[in-house]
Amino acid sequence: MCGIIGVVGSSDTLATLLEGLARLEYRGYDSAGIALVRPGQTWRARCAAGTESVAALRIECERAPSGFSSGIGHTRWATHGAPEVANAHPHLDCSGNIAIIHNGIIENHTELQVELEARGHTFTSVTDSEVLAHLIEESRSQGLELLDAVRASLKLVRGAFALAAMDAGEPDVIVAARRISPLVVGTAAGVTYLASDVPAILDRATAFYAVNDDEVVRLGPEGFRAVDLDGAPVRLHQLSIEWDLETAQKGGNDDFITKEINEQPDALRDTLMDRRRPDGTITFDELRISDDELREVKRVVLVAAGTSHHAALVAKYAIERWARLSVDVDISSEYRYRDPVVEIGTLVIGVSQSGETIDTIMATREAQRRGARVVAISNIVDSSMAREASAVIYTRAGLEVSVASTKSYVAQIAALELLALRLAQLRGTLDPSDIDAFFHGLNAVGAQVATALERRGHVEDVAKQLIGAHDFFFIGRHLGFPTAMEGALKLKELSYLHAEGYPGGELKHGPLALIEPGVVVVAVATDLVMHEKILSNLAEVKARGATVVAVATDDDDAIAAVADYVLRVPATEPMFSPMVDVVPLQIFAYSMARGLGRNVDRPRNLAKTVTVE
Ligand code: G6P
Repeated sequence: MCGIIGVVGSSDTLATLLEGLARLEYRGYDSAGIALVRPGQTWRARCAAGTESVAALRIECERAPSGFSSGIGHTRWATHGAPEVANAHPHLDCSGNIAIIHNGIIENHTELQVELEARGHTFTSVTDSEVLAHLIEESRSQGLELLDAVRASLKLVRGAFALAAMDAGEPDVIVAARRISPLVVGTAAGVTYLASDVPAILDRATAFYAVNDDEVVRLGPEGFRAVDLDGAPVRLHQLSIEWDLETAQKGGNDDFITKEINEQPDALRDTLMDRRRPDGTITFDELRISDDELREVKRVVLVAAGTSHHAALVAKYAIERWARLSVDVDISSEYRYRDPVVEIGTLVIGVSQSGETIDTIMATREAQRRGARVVAISNIVDSSMAREASAVIYTRAGLEVSVASTKSYVAQIAALELLALRLAQLRGTLDPSDIDAFFHGLNAVGAQVATALERRGHVEDVAKQLIGAHDFFFIGRHLGFPTAMEGALKLKELSYLHAEGYPGGELKHGPLALIEPGVVVVAVATDLVMHEKILSNLAEVKARGATVVAVATDDDDAIAAVADYVLRVPATEPMFSPMVDVVPLQIFAYSMARGLGRNVDRPRNLAKTVTVE
């Protein structure tokens, strides 16, 4: 989730790159950098100043020599390596002539780096990306043109990339390539551009072209030529762009939350990428805790706030079921003041998208003070919690702009379930074949989420019917319970309507007194273990006049008897259902909020990162 831009043949190279990067900051701002290339010279500037990285780069570039007509630029959202200048792109080869920028994850970077170092290459960063510069350097030294050198290098890498490379030995050429991560090419008279997203070059280029997976493009001032990885020519599809700049930054969506909801399959894919060795070992590059320490865990406590707390609730089911460890889940603001018991072997997991929520940081600090080992699950590399914790696992959901969390939530569940599988592997509580099956199942969830997203229109129609309702109860049992909590929170946050999440079995202990005509009960009814019981709960509320909306699987024929509206989702392994079932509830909350004219990206009274107690 980084932003990339490049230009060839421009009389305004520096301004083009800096303006483009400023527009790409929503893709990440851990660092920003550019490389300008002309015959025999590659000039590079990089800054890592958090949200001010592009501004700092602008100042740094005041000392840039003039006379460069080509260059590349990058704004980084860190996945491998801390957000520091040394890890900022562009990365150079050993000669300093070749510069590359990369968005994506090179999965086999560790083995490639070992081989390259054995052949004498020196690395200056701890990123997965730098291997690309050295691979291209090797191919260039064998006499290949830059285009062929990039093609040859890409045949050696696994993973995702949008890549751009330049070489002072072949100036006024950029070679760009794509697999999974987005890439567009733009043209204007005598100038050619590339970018991860259209906004970066929207007011400079006059025609835009999409690069597809495994296509490589050679850009020169006169235009571009595209080939596949084997060198056979391909035609790029021309895009018709009718957006204004603001819409373009939201990827053509009306708001950031829609973009982020739609990005959930990508968030899952990126979070799961690079997590399993060929021998089946589940692995986390960034986890600074030994296998022996994980084997000694006797009890797990998860601390979190808001949506992250609901991801933690899901993790309880996975860790207990798979790793047979006892798990408590605590609201982080309650944990530290409760004089918590921390025994030898207590593992505390702090779950936080930002890694900056003060309640969660204080809870993990308290746990650490009492002797617990702490693992942080954070979406932001080197966040405060990630730095302080004994260990960290990063979700790779990309920058989340909207206050209400969506794609981070599914990524957190995926990361926590991976950790549950790792614990099971170390403790021998699951058969290796079951671990493999769950791992592959987890990797298939993205496609099921994509199917749930395709059904957006029906959810919107249901929401339209219910505009005017004021009281909502979200219920679920077993793995449907955390999803019910999250569905209620989304509706509250986005639409300002009264919504409560409850375990279905608890209704009869109080809330049932509130059920009357006009009240809407939204039930997560996908859990097969508890299916009959949730149907009974729904019959109870229906008998008292409630309107019933049910999230149910495609094959559920029984649900129609008790539900007024059914939101269908593909059936999946129960442990994965929270990631799929939440999708219609996110869309439902969004549609209600839009129907009521709310500001969906910035709900009143709330903040994205809460750094006060
Ligand atoms: C705020 C945000 C929520 C988020 C919660 C926890 O309330 O508005 O979307 O779930 O903080 O944030 P964290 O960064 O710790 O996950």
